[in-house]
Amino acid sequence: MRVDGRPLRTLWPTPARDALQVIDQRLLPHRLQVEHLADVAAVQRAIRDMWVRGAPLIGATAAYGIALQANVDVRDGALRDAAARLKAARPTAVNLAWALERMLARLLPLPSRQRREAAWAEAGSIAEEDVAVNVAIGRHGLPLLQAVAARKCGAPVNVLTHCNAGWLATVDWGTATAPIYHAHAAGVPLHVWVDETRPRNQGASLTAWELGHEGVPHTVIADNAGGHLMQHGLVDLVIVGCDRVSASGDVCNKIGTYLKALAARDNGIPFYVAMPTSTLDRALRDGLAEIPIEERSAREVTHIAGRTAAGEVVEVQLVPDGSAAANPAFDVTPARLVTGLITEHGVVAAREDALRRLGASA
Ligand code: MRU
Repeated sequence: MRVDGRPLRTLWPTPARDALQVIDQRLLPHRLQVEHLADVAAVQRAIRDMWVRGAPLIGATAAYGIALQANVDVRDGALRDAAARLKAARPTAVNLAWALERMLARLLPLPSRQRREAAWAEAGSIAEEDVAVNVAIGRHGLPLLQAVAARKCGAPVNVLTHCNAGWLATVDWGTATAPIYHAHAAGVPLHVWVDETRPRNQGASLTAWELGHEGVPHTVIADNAGGHLMQHGLVDLVIVGCDRVSASGDVCNKIGTYLKALAARDNGIPFYVAMPTSTLDRALRDGLAEIPIEERSAREVTHIAGRTAAGEVVEVQLVPDGSAAANPAFDVTPARLVTGLITEHGVVAAREDALRRLGASA
């Protein structure tokens, strides 16, 4: 998508293939800074400390981490060890494990002399496929927005989204934002309610930034405002992303998603989840019991960073000295609250039989 009118992706390898370049998302929206990641340790740190984040993007980043490993040592043990270290960087989004398993499955059967070239090619394929998948999600989600627009006779379609499932969470286009960007390009009048998404504020810092650069009208709201807006007819539909979806259609996504799903159900508002099939964990049946929920540092809750009027970015403390804080980073929305999953193959029900058929056609 575009930044200041110029196309940009979230990651790209250097021409010499000696580093991966990524946007340091911790600094947005105040500074756009590109970082070079030159080895597995740097990639692991960038994923763990959320320079890059979002389920599809951490998968693609980790794939390039294996390619960087292949620059220095392509033996089975070295590749497996690199994959294990990268996989441990964040536990919840299944795309990370998915991409690493795909890299190992591609590389380990090859003779050593072919592995380096194949690693860069496979990481490149994972990145390019992510873009194509998101474009397809956008195409399949577009009619949902067009249908609301037709009903509203030219009044803007109000979409609520949570966290950042935008292009910054993927290689390009985003998952939840792909239908929004497609609709905007098609001339559908739109307005997006952007949940700020405490504690890391991916909505306020990232989604608002990218929507702004694409010229999509949007309003940032406190996380607690969504239910009120829904009660007053100000939300037409909800579209969120996901980090892991169980075989039965339970959706794990950024903390707070479940509360939006409950409010949407209570108000008869469609609740859609944009889901690349790389985020479907077919091995899991019960999302609530089985998906590992990342517990992040309490400091993300007790402190907040922002820009002062003088242009300096500073961090301040929000809570009294000594107050404990807990920081579960994801929650699980039961399948029964999900209106549909917007996938690259079409919109499907969040049900085991529908997801099994999706597997068959994937
Ligand atoms: O902790 P993050 O920022 O990596 O969490 C991201 C989310 O929860 C997104 O909503 C989800 O990954 C979908 S990304 C297309």
